[in-house]
Amino acid sequence: MGCFTITKPFSLLFYLLVFLLCVSPGAGRPSFACDPRNANTKKLPFCNANLPIPNRVRDLIGRLTLQEKITLLVNNAAAVPRLGISGYEWWSEALHGVSNTGPGVKFGGSFPGATSFPQVITTAASFNASLWELIGRVVSDEARAMYNGGVAGLTYWSPNVNIFRDPRWGRGQETPGEDPVLSSRYAASYVTGLQQPYGRDGSRLKVAACCKHYTAYDLDNWNGVDRFHFNAKVSKQDLEDTFDVPFRGCVLEGKVASIMCSYNQVNGIPSCADTNLLRNTIRGEWRLNGYIASDCDSVGVYFNDQHYTKTPEDAAADAIKAGLDLDCGPFLAIHTEQAVKLGKLKELDVNGALANTLTVQMRLGMYDGDPSAQPFGHLGPRDVCTPAHQQLALEAARQGIVLLKNRGRSLPLSTQRHRTIAVIGPNSDVTVTMVGNYAGVPCGYTTPLQGIGRYARTVHQPGCRDVSCAGNQLIGAAVNAARQADATVLVMGLDQSIEAEFKDRVGLLLPGHQQDLITRVATASKGPTVLVLMSGGPLDISFAQINPRVSAILWVGYPGQAGGTAIADVLFGTTNPGGKLPMTWYPQAYVAKLPMTNMAMRSDPARGYPGRTYRFYKGPVVYPFGHGLSYTSFVHTIADDAPKVVSVLFSGGHSRSNTTISGGDSLRVSHTTCDRLEVGVGVNVRNAGSEDGTHTLLVFSVPPASGNWEPNRQLVAFQKVHIPAGSQQQVKINLHVCNHLSVVDRNGIRRIPMGKHNLDIGDVRHPISLQAQPFVENKP
Ligand SMILES: *[C@@H]1O[C@H](CO)[C@@H](O)[C@H](O)[C@H]1NC(C)=O
Ligand SMILES: *[C@@H]1O[C@H](CO)[C@@H](O)[C@H](O)[C@H]1NC(C)=O
Repeated sequence: MGCFTITKPFSLLFYLLVFLLCVSPGAGRPSFACDPRNANTKKLPFCNANLPIPNRVRDLIGRLTLQEKITLLVNNAAAVPRLGISGYEWWSEALHGVSNTGPGVKFGGSFPGATSFPQVITTAASFNASLWELIGRVVSDEARAMYNGGVAGLTYWSPNVNIFRDPRWGRGQETPGEDPVLSSRYAASYVTGLQQPYGRDGSRLKVAACCKHYTAYDLDNWNGVDRFHFNAKVSKQDLEDTFDVPFRGCVLEGKVASIMCSYNQVNGIPSCADTNLLRNTIRGEWRLNGYIASDCDSVGVYFNDQHYTKTPEDAAADAIKAGLDLDCGPFLAIHTEQAVKLGKLKELDVNGALANTLTVQMRLGMYDGDPSAQPFGHLGPRDVCTPAHQQLALEAARQGIVLLKNRGRSLPLSTQRHRTIAVIGPNSDVTVTMVGNYAGVPCGYTTPLQGIGRYARTVHQPGCRDVSCAGNQLIGAAVNAARQADATVLVMGLDQSIEAEFKDRVGLLLPGHQQDLITRVATASKGPTVLVLMSGGPLDISFAQINPRVSAILWVGYPGQAGGTAIADVLFGTTNPGGKLPMTWYPQAYVAKLPMTNMAMRSDPARGYPGRTYRFYKGPVVYPFGHGLSYTSFVHTIADDAPKVVSVLFSGGHSRSNTTISGGDSLRVSHTTCDRLEVGVGVNVRNAGSEDGTHTLLVFSVPPASGNWEPNRQLVAFQKVHIPAGSQQQVKINLHVCNHLSVVDRNGIRRIPMGKHNLDIGDVRHPISLQAQPFVENKP
């Protein structure tokens, strides 16, 4: 029966029936599996949504042949028509918006684009965990809508939470920066937003996220060393207190449904073949409820490029035995059957991998029949690029912009006094540059030139042909424009031709003639000159920092589809900036002292090795981690009732648990009764300026000095607060002694040093003394 062929008036009920028949089942994508109309599968236990998921998974695995199982071990999993199961593409990406970087997402038709949020390094600079979760929710609304429309998957291989260890890393832009606590919190918040667990015990997922790339993956291609061949030599200490931290937070707090292992080796073993990392740490210690995926073709890479095993069957067997569940790439589909035949692997091992992937598919509702009848089944094209979603992309960009310099309060500009603005620079009218990598097709763009054009008359000069700025032919025209305007805005920096996946930088300076352009324009400019920097990684712009003609500097990262609006809003004071740098800005001389291939976080003064990140590096910086100014000023004081002494109860009572290290006593965290060790510190924050503003309270702990193994200081908490001009607010910081005041010794063991810890908050310092006390069981 055709759908709209009724001519005679029928009852309302009949119309309703026809409407449901026509619209309901066939409107979205067909069922992935367990189609209610398929009589062969309808009654099978794996299709019964009322049974517990483990039972359904067991039932399904029991029905599959070995050959069928093996076709399900790869990202483009084959269909099993016999059981009414469709093929599935596991590889979709949503780093900062639904992205078509993976084959699982296709834009076009009813879904021409999706909301493109700022690149993660920018969003991280907001230090606003509720923003990160909210972005995750919006992205997964759009992802579900696109899945319902048949143009996207439900398994997203995002976020990237590797530590931004070296400022040259081309993919540093994708990460939340250099600090493990910040990265861990970002991972947990974004993943919670994306997955939005629901149902009994939160076992059901809106989409499945994936934290990648486990672990010690933060080099792409530097000085002839690439990620496919790199062996990262990592100490137990650095693994425990740096590289593992975001992944642990992602699993334990974010309850992520997947972890991806990386291409590189860690201490001689490819991470995707490392039983200790995958089976023991991720699944054993952290209890991942989900699947472990390989980076794309990792298994092929360690066989073909690293020659890690003699035969391809050994490579396949090693991966699955180590705990890998899904291969992005064809390798496991090609070699696993033979590996089983040769006795290198048991079918039971294959079942174990499948149980993990199938469980996630079931948690996503993929075996519950008609997708439109499920939660989120109503989402469709009109839920993508909504005004509210696009507003959030703008809000995220505003919150992530960092004011680095503001000489004599040159900013904000005034629409009264600055009526004509010279807008100069290779990034001043860009679109795709603003979304960085792992982006999709945005709903639309506002370039910086367009954004500024909403506040003032603009005179535009690119100054250089592109960011590499090879020639100086266009500088003269830019200088002339600056001479005539009331203020000058230079939008400079980098793009994916300089820092990208496959491409690390060689140095930290602005490319080509950019410095020349900035200096000449600043010298000629009639009014204030503002430098706006787009980049993922830090830049050594000391020349502009010290040049009094450069009035103000903003770092905007890659600010997303609405970047131009956000930049203009900050320039003209509609938005008071509150972002903070999520990574250290080093001078160029720094990188000459350390090869990217040296993974050590800690300094080694005897060998001239400076150490990495604000936690271990003590030398000069251009701008420190956490730097960021406001148009107002904030004053901190510690509340009077903040505790000064805390007793740490330790159990076991063995003298061994009280180890002396370089003069200081410490207790092993595992020997401490951690559950009662919360410390609440009240911090009063006063907005002492004349403008409302948002302030990020960064709380660092400085452990007692005992050797060179503890960090200089460590971010332990952060809280963003909005405070109207002239008023004060108390922020309660809750610290957990075991998590926040512990350090890691050379054997990778977490310990709590006794003695005086300092909490540094802005320019105030609060000491807390920790005292060990043996824990005595109450005798009945
Ligand atoms: C353990 O350390 C505490 C604090 O420094 C000290 O008072 C105590 O005597 C030590 N206990 C043992 C058994 O060494
Ligand atoms: C954090 O972000 C959310 C979402 O944009 C916003 O509502 C909230 O005000 C932000 N927090 C602060 C303190 O600015």
